Amino acid sequence: MTATFDLVLKGGTVVNQDGRGRRDVAIRDGRIVDIGTFDRAQAGEVINCKGLHILPGVIDTQVHFREPGLDHKEDLESGSRAAVMGGVTAVFEMPNTNPQTVTAEALADKLARARGRMHCDHAFFIGGTHDNAADLPELERLPGCCGVKVFVGSSTGDLLVEDDAGVEAILSRISRRAAFHAEDEPRLRERKGLRVAGDPSSHPVWRDPTAALMATERLVAIARRTGKRIHILHISTGPEMDVLMANKDVATVEVTPHHLTLEAPGCYQRLGTRAQMNPPVRDAAHKERIWHGVLDGTVDVLGSDHAPHTLDEKSGTYPDTPSGMTGVQTLVPLMLDHVNAGRLTIERFVDLTSHGPARIFNIARKGRIAAGYDADLTIVDMKRSEQITNSWIASKSRWTPYHGETVTGWPVGTFVRGMKVMWQGELATPSSGEPVRFLETLA
Ligand code: DOR
Repeated sequence: MTATFDLVLKGGTVVNQDGRGRRDVAIRDGRIVDIGTFDRAQAGEVINCKGLHILPGVIDTQVHFREPGLDHKEDLESGSRAAVMGGVTAVFEMPNTNPQTVTAEALADKLARARGRMHCDHAFFIGGTHDNAADLPELERLPGCCGVKVFVGSSTGDLLVEDDAGVEAILSRISRRAAFHAEDEPRLRERKGLRVAGDPSSHPVWRDPTAALMATERLVAIARRTGKRIHILHISTGPEMDVLMANKDVATVEVTPHHLTLEAPGCYQRLGTRAQMNPPVRDAAHKERIWHGVLDGTVDVLGSDHAPHTLDEKSGTYPDTPSGMTGVQTLVPLMLDHVNAGRLTIERFVDLTSHGPARIFNIARKGRIAAGYDADLTIVDMKRSEQITNSWIASKSRWTPYHGETVTGWPVGTFVRGMKVMWQGELATPSSGEPVRFLETLA
């Protein structure tokens, strides 16, 4: 019997758990059903991928899409459009919206807003607070929830659990891996006077490496006391990488493209407040140690920490300016440029953006190019050089710190459950995103 497929991606170089090789990918009913060599006659549609690489769909496990409440910066439609334009097939969105995502109602509201408007698959973090700690065991198991996120240092918005007792009250109750923004709040308060008006290069002086290290060490200790799993977001310092390497049984690690690409002091001189981010971009020595963590395997995932603010908001005087920059659309091109520069292999990129997220968040049926898995695929042209420009940025805030930079390696196709959502820079099948499902909460 001749097999029939809805779609065959033909002649591309597949990068997956099998290594790297020329294979066709056959898709039926939104799933990958076979990998090999197939006849054109077997498929309803054939897409020629000759000269292109076919990667498992890129999962960005940290984005801020601002809806509801801060929709002038971004919303679920515009943020997810930016995601698929940049080759991202699924996102995990953060709870510092208004209202904050700290109740079942707020989570249900986000899921309802996402339906028919988000272009990629999605899940939402529940914010952990002193007030909702007792409810978190139920909240973290709601459909569409990727877990609990706790700010132990304050950033955009008011979500904050700065004390060990508060974190322990949360961690001791929940069962899934929780994600943390790790900067020590009392130290940040104590050092506020070090901010120099009009000089964003004082941002990493105020929010210094010790503040990040202190918080990460405290979180590791609480994880051990409670026997729970922690995920430390956006690592910005070398010493934290040493601590996390020594505690891989309880801790997983995220790094961001901006901490791997930008460095102080140059980024503050060049970009001013556009480089202002929490935790801050630091000097070359920290950046190199973070890269080492990518190469030696300490790092589990890459997240963009896409945190848009309008240029108007960014054009105020430091420190009255908000921290954050766009990133969901530039994650793939920036990192492919690093691949082409020989800084990491394409296999390690796939490990960080698909296998890693699936492994540490227990994602159901995503993160591999394998039969039976969702046909989430990121198609890239490793030879294509393009200039990143603000006009390419689909985010409502319409800017990127990489404006004017030329990269080699470019996302040319985004498939979400077999749907061609983006192809050659055009939105093809819009608004088809669904909630991501997780092994811990399948029932
Ligand atoms: O710089 C940041 N901005 N870091 C965060 O953790 C939050 C983010 C935001 O939401 O603006």
